[in-house]
Amino acid sequence: MPDLEPSAPEISAPEILSTADGSLSAHSARYGQSYGSHFGAATQARQVFAEGSSTHLHPAPRVLEVGFGLGQNFRATLAATAGRPLHYLAYEFDPVAATLLREVTASDPLAAHPAWAALLEGWGQPVRLNQPGVTLDLRLEDVTLAVLPRDWASAVYLDGFSPGVNPEVWSPEFLGRLADALQPGGVLVTYSAAGHVRRGLRAAGLSVERLPGPAGKREVLRAVKGG
Ligand SMILES: C[S@@+](CC[C@H](N)C(=O)[O-])C[C@H]1O[C@@H](n2cnc3c(N)ncnc32)[C@H](O)[C@@H]1O
Repeated sequence: MPDLEPSAPEISAPEILSTADGSLSAHSARYGQSYGSHFGAATQARQVFAEGSSTHLHPAPRVLEVGFGLGQNFRATLAATAGRPLHYLAYEFDPVAATLLREVTASDPLAAHPAWAALLEGWGQPVRLNQPGVTLDLRLEDVTLAVLPRDWASAVYLDGFSPGVNPEVWSPEFLGRLADALQPGGVLVTYSAAGHVRRGLRAAGLSVERLPGPAGKREVLRAVKGG
């Protein structure tokens, strides 16, 4: 007699998708959203995160990322900070399969970067990489339960899935904790310009401005911690 116990519905693995600037991303069945913008995943990573936070100009950037995902923002930051010491602390509670990550990044010029190669090598475990010019801490845990460093980050990349489906990383309480993690003068950037996100960031004491977004996105947010 076969076992007729009902089993939990299966969630299919993310599917690779091609985005408008030629970079690859993936679609998450669990969240019903893509990891990067359909209008250009690499462009969004560079424009909204690496440049939007001024990390590309910082002499010794320290980045805290909410949602490492496919590492698109990490690779954009490696490219934008070459030659300067980068410390990157990222949280991810649902890492994608190594095979998917390899496929998504196979044609990315940054895939050849030694830090990316070393990351892929140890994928699936929390990572602490120390290479010349690059320190990467990838913590495979729920960021909302983590003890975040205080007054540490020159930039926070808030890149969860959208507030409607991933609300815990956009709550006023958690935005306050991200603000605490910023050093004075530090900048939080995010692709969501939703009113409740702006209000949460203001309530956390940050100066919030709306910037024109990349293709497909009218506005994005940049929020600065006063010195
Ligand atoms: C939009 S994707 C991030 C894309 C990524 N920044 C990139 O550059 O490829 C959102 C990510 O946030 C992760 N995430 C959502 N909530 C989280 C939480 N509470 N703790 C850690 N990671 C979380 C998801 O698993 C997903 O990988």
